Amino acid sequence: MHTQLSFALPAEIDTELLAVLAWDTQTQKESDSQPEPTLLTTDAEIAAAAQSVLAGGEFKAGVNETLLIHAPAGLKARRLLVVGLGKKAKATVNSVRQAAGTAVRFCKPRGLKDLVLLFPESEALPPGPCSRAVAEGVVTADFDSDTYRSDRKDLSVNSFNLVALANAEQAALQSAFAEGVIVGDSQNFTRTLVNEPGNKLTPTILGARAAEMATEVGLQWDVYSTEKLHELKMGAFAAVAQGSEEPPALIVLRYEPQGVTDGPILGLVGKGITFDTGGISIKPSDNMEKMKYDMAGSAAMLGAMRAIALLKPRVRVICVVCSAENMPDGKAYKPGDVVTAMSGKTIEIINTDAEGRLVLADGLTYARQLGATHLINAATLTGAIGVALGLVNGGAFSNDDATYEKFSAALETSGEKFWRMPLGEEYADLIKSDIADIKNTGGRYGGACTAAEFLHKFAEDTPWIHLDIAGMAWIDEKRPYIAKGPSGVGVRSILEWVRSYA
Ligand code: BES
Ligand code: MN
Ligand code: ZN
Repeated sequence: MHTQLSFALPAEIDTELLAVLAWDTQTQKESDSQPEPTLLTTDAEIAAAAQSVLAGGEFKAGVNETLLIHAPAGLKARRLLVVGLGKKAKATVNSVRQAAGTAVRFCKPRGLKDLVLLFPESEALPPGPCSRAVAEGVVTADFDSDTYRSDRKDLSVNSFNLVALANAEQAALQSAFAEGVIVGDSQNFTRTLVNEPGNKLTPTILGARAAEMATEVGLQWDVYSTEKLHELKMGAFAAVAQGSEEPPALIVLRYEPQGVTDGPILGLVGKGITFDTGGISIKPSDNMEKMKYDMAGSAAMLGAMRAIALLKPRVRVICVVCSAENMPDGKAYKPGDVVTAMSGKTIEIINTDAEGRLVLADGLTYARQLGATHLINAATLTGAIGVALGLVNGGAFSNDDATYEKFSAALETSGEKFWRMPLGEEYADLIKSDIADIKNTGGRYGGACTAAEFLHKFAEDTPWIHLDIAGMAWIDEKRPYIAKGPSGVGVRSILEWVRSYA
């Protein structure tokens, strides 16, 4: 998809489809009050072209609602699409991100290849963030997950043009737009990885894909395997990996901006289980195929690293991905086994399906050893997080309020939804073991919190955030602005959190 931001007169634009945003300016609460769809443009010719249809009442400017007008009078464009933002009072930059995506996904099944969107004009919507959000919304909306269908048609929109009226802030709008394209592409990079089935994306292949990306964007990288795990005494990570014919991959990426020699070093750690059968504590077959996305945390970190390399914030970042396949086998680790993590802590294995926390334990320790002063990890860690928060919010845990505040502020920019969840001694008590320092499961209740407390034991007192994205990494039902399949959740928020340290 070719994307650009330009400055022109809307009525003069020759395109297959010109899209304009609208919101509902009705402020009365009474149930009989009619919606008042209002276009977010001051252009008289666009307003005139849409006027009669808008007056007819069929379009209410609801969230991501669309209305198509063929051969709009007075415009060069062959179609005019109006996309709703919902109530004006509730509309945000994120609504604009979604509406822009909705316009793209309107075009795709109709074979429309060329889309122009009018820049939303309103004092209520900050232009820079809107410019960026439109680019993100459009690029992510163009993604579809039907990679391996032989009859796949390329329904990509070839050309997207965001058109604003000539104004004083053109340079700022351009750079925000370019940023949005980088972020959107990075999120799609993550989604492409997450979408791959387990046979096409083994730990080794994930390592190769990470290395290829790192080389492309100028990150330093190393990809290690079994020998290095043993050398580093990563007994927890190695235990998970030992049940598979596929060797593990320990992926390390480094971003070191020139001239930055002090200040924080941010450590990004990802769970990269390329397939999770559960191991000897094997999962039921129903939905087991979904466990190909158990590397979404690591893919989110790799996508964030890509964006970091291209946007160049002035802060050092290292990324550690722990990738393995969790399989049952003659050599597989077993319930009852006791393993020694890199930090020296001993862990009693209760359930081999609680493997994510084991690989992350060593990943967190390693990131600290490499000098990370602040840690963030992402993982499809527990089914319990979906039970707690639904498929609406990701879970965020932190041992440090100031660090979490920065993440919370990042969410404002990213538009992603995370909800802070509790840690605490009472949860930590549930993972005490009779035979070892800790055990890898904490029983039936508060499963997301006991898993987080397990990781906490390895983050120790380093300021740390844990993102449990098990409920958010895969979208089961398509939405107007995004395909079903891998969501790429986390990339935008992790990136913004990193940038907040620059
Ligand atoms: N990969 C799963 C968690 C998961 C569940 C991810 C659903 C995505 C969707 C994780 O490794 C796991 O199996 N967790 C167990 C932990 C339990 C054994 C304590 C779970 O959630 O059931
Ligand atoms: Mn598991
Ligand atoms: Zn897992």
